Amino acid sequence: MKTSIPKITVKDKQLKFKPNISNYEAAYRDYNLNKLIKDNISLFPENKINAAYNAVDRQVLGPRKNKIAIYHLDQDLNEIKLTFFELYQLSNRFGNLLKSLGVGRGDRVFFFLPRIPELFYGFLGTLKIGAVAGTMFSAFGVQALIDRLADSAAKVVITNKELLPRIKDAKIHLPDLEKISVVEDFAPELSKFSDELHVSQMDMDDPAFMLYTSGTTGKPKGVVHTHRAIIQEHLTSNWVLDLKEDDTYWCTADPGWVTGIAYEILGSLSNGASTVVYSGRFDPTIWYKIVEKYQVSVWYTAPTAIRMLQAAGKQAIGKTDLSSLRHILSVGEPLNPEPLLWAKKTYGLVFHDTWWQTETGSIMIANFPCLPIKPGSMGYPVPGVTAAIVDDNGKPVKPMMEGNLAIKKGWPSMMKTIWRRPKKYESYFIDDWYISGDRAYMDYDSYFWFVGRADDVIKTAGERVGPFEVESALVAYPGVTEAGVIGKPDPIRGQIIKAFVTLNPEIKPSKALVVKLQEFVKKYLAGHAYPKEIEFVKSLPKTRSGKIMRRMLRAKELGLPIGDTSTLEEY
Ligand code: WT7
Repeated sequence: MKTSIPKITVKDKQLKFKPNISNYEAAYRDYNLNKLIKDNISLFPENKINAAYNAVDRQVLGPRKNKIAIYHLDQDLNEIKLTFFELYQLSNRFGNLLKSLGVGRGDRVFFFLPRIPELFYGFLGTLKIGAVAGTMFSAFGVQALIDRLADSAAKVVITNKELLPRIKDAKIHLPDLEKISVVEDFAPELSKFSDELHVSQMDMDDPAFMLYTSGTTGKPKGVVHTHRAIIQEHLTSNWVLDLKEDDTYWCTADPGWVTGIAYEILGSLSNGASTVVYSGRFDPTIWYKIVEKYQVSVWYTAPTAIRMLQAAGKQAIGKTDLSSLRHILSVGEPLNPEPLLWAKKTYGLVFHDTWWQTETGSIMIANFPCLPIKPGSMGYPVPGVTAAIVDDNGKPVKPMMEGNLAIKKGWPSMMKTIWRRPKKYESYFIDDWYISGDRAYMDYDSYFWFVGRADDVIKTAGERVGPFEVESALVAYPGVTEAGVIGKPDPIRGQIIKAFVTLNPEIKPSKALVVKLQEFVKKYLAGHAYPKEIEFVKSLPKTRSGKIMRRMLRAKELGLPIGDTSTLEEY
């Protein structure tokens, strides 16, 4: 354990605000879900609910009607402002547009868009009519689109002119896809649709949105979330992000991933936060400019971005005034102490790490404003969540012992299922414990510490990439016979993707081939999922049953002990 790193006390944090949770122990102990729902969530009769109604419609009935919901900024900081009332009207019109296409309850509507306003009101409009929204990161290539749209049997895809060709290439594999709607075509016509919409009153367990995420093997799996998830998304936005009425909040995530859905659309808007959405490229100077211009007070970002800001140094800040910031947070990959302490020196604030996953639907473990931080630790479970470290039989282990990071079944934003793969869903659980796939330990003060993934899943710049998908993409290239893919530690990106590739004997390894393979994977699979390093090898280590042993590749790459090789085939 990193005992040499000093604990940051609450006094060190010099909070200039009163946290929404000022007494963690009391909030955790007194968690009463029914009372919290009554005080925070709007329900319809008979315990019906709609997540989008909570995010937007109910704000329109009160003093937030004309408050800015979204400040949308592009690369040149051109601004589009949407009030809650405008977002309400646009999402209603969009819901009516979907209805005119024959979309009804339970139908899947998928969004393949960059972070433009249409994605936000479209997502909300889809939930309002009881359809299921899916999002797809705009860097996805054709195969990634086919995997998602075919498996979900999506009825409608919403895209834009720029991304349309990729959907067209995928279309032949998508028998259930009835309609492709292009933003440039429908947005100008949207005013033809009524701005009044009957919001569907859903059961708590009805699906609201789904996201595909990668595991160690096989195709990405469709994680299904329910309308009930808004409860914990709302509460954690309040408790952990600490959103207050006057905040300008900026979440740097993309709604193609779960953070963008839970904390850039649903939970944050449900708290009435004015939210900045920046759709441009990462650029430290622009980022700081946004903080200054919009007086951003709460900022939720990721370790890779933080390390890149650190690398850009103080000169990127220049004379920019960052004094509006009051609470800053991080998610998606381990936040090492160095950038955390750098931020304290540079911004006078500490990044508060949060841990969760696509499957958990909301923040599970976090550093709370009212609690001291041990730099490098993920903090404490949020109220309503029981976290533990368990062994492979589901038995809790002692403090300081590494094991599986597990959550007790039944928190309000737990995934409902894996789309059409009930067995896969069941495989996540040992008795009452949801097993996260992460290894961690708890210290004597009950702080949780991340150790690593239990499986081969790669986290590169915070994005989850399945090695099998990258391997499949590589072997789809003519002349490649086999590929083994691992995550290799990287000081900025956490991990980069490294591929070991074998070739047909007729093909000569070359630098040009490396570039060709990289370009191919970008196009075929996804812009962010290509191997930054490719090494051509004569053969790959395999088990006797023919499975590539990524563990061996990793050990070789990192110069680690090779471990048990009893199942290894000669190679
Ligand atoms: C995986 C989940 C839900 C947020 C976006 C990621 C890793 C997440 C942390 C953290 C160390 C973290 C884990 C987890 N991860 N947060 N604070 N410290 N690792 O969602 O794409 O489903 O990825 O991200 O490995 O299992 P995701």
